[in-house]
Amino acid sequence: MTQQRRPDGSLRHLLTLEGLSRSELEVLLERAQHFVRRAGEPAANSTVLAGVTIANIFTEPSTRTRVSFELAAKRLGADVVNLEMQLSSRVKGESMLDTVFTLEALHVDVFVLRDAEVGVPGMVAASVAPHVSVLSAGEAHVSHPTQGLLDALTVLQRKGRCDGLSIAIVGDIRHSRVARSACHAFQTLGVHDLRLIAPQALMPESTEFGGCARSNDIAQGIAGCDVVMMLRIQKERFADAEIPAGDDYFREFGLTGARLAGAKHDAIVMHPQPMNRGVEIESAVADGPQSAIRLQVANGVAVRMAALEVLTAPLAAKGRR
Ligand code: NCD
Repeated sequence: MTQQRRPDGSLRHLLTLEGLSRSELEVLLERAQHFVRRAGEPAANSTVLAGVTIANIFTEPSTRTRVSFELAAKRLGADVVNLEMQLSSRVKGESMLDTVFTLEALHVDVFVLRDAEVGVPGMVAASVAPHVSVLSAGEAHVSHPTQGLLDALTVLQRKGRCDGLSIAIVGDIRHSRVARSACHAFQTLGVHDLRLIAPQALMPESTEFGGCARSNDIAQGIAGCDVVMMLRIQKERFADAEIPAGDDYFREFGLTGARLAGAKHDAIVMHPQPMNRGVEIESAVADGPQSAIRLQVANGVAVRMAALEVLTAPLAAKGRR
């Protein structure tokens, strides 16, 4: 794994939440909470990243993550460029590293990367100049650290703690970078009852997700839970697998109001989106009083502001502008 720390131990890159201590997560989450504003209030902003240039390079589709990284950078006063590479130079065969080196020559200081291939953020992180930071915005099925942080922040806001909660993750866990990063965050923050619920074909290998219970039965899996996190089937990440099609999947694994009634009465429902209503989740549940799905989206900007601010602290300290 690429080193994500500077020689002094501070975080330089954010490629994974694996290996971050509880206090490091808490610092990031407290800082994120500082940037949270109620709906209708002006968005948080600062000039801490004035003079810093950030490039968002996305080679996979994204709406929420890309827009929230862009807003986070702008609200900290950074200059921002956005590259959606399937539309530009990558189709001409230019490699990711060539693009990164070009942007580095243009004084880009921070790269935010999303790519379907394992190892791309790490390879870039290992190749850039020492003052440059790399943040993963989603690496294949492997990790999605800022999503893990925003999921943890959402649970903290709605439940007041992570310690001792029962959390169920339901759906395509095998192909989910969201589940992997959320699992690291939750376990580091004191969740011991973490349950994985999926059809067998969408369960991860037994060597992964240590310490989690597994079930193929949603009713049994979510019984008594505080948090139910639903996931989309990531069809783009596998050719074929023995999984029930649309209606059948909903019948077996979809989260309905009746099923949710088996969790705690005040359980919250989460989903990283994009969501398929009527496949993994019933619309009434997605939009209902127990849903924290829109709160997750709102928290995305705050968490990305916190991550950008913490990682680039040495640049800001030099007073770029
Ligand atoms: C997820 C992703 O891209 O991993 N979406 C997101 O970032 N909010 C989940 C998904 O695509 O299903």
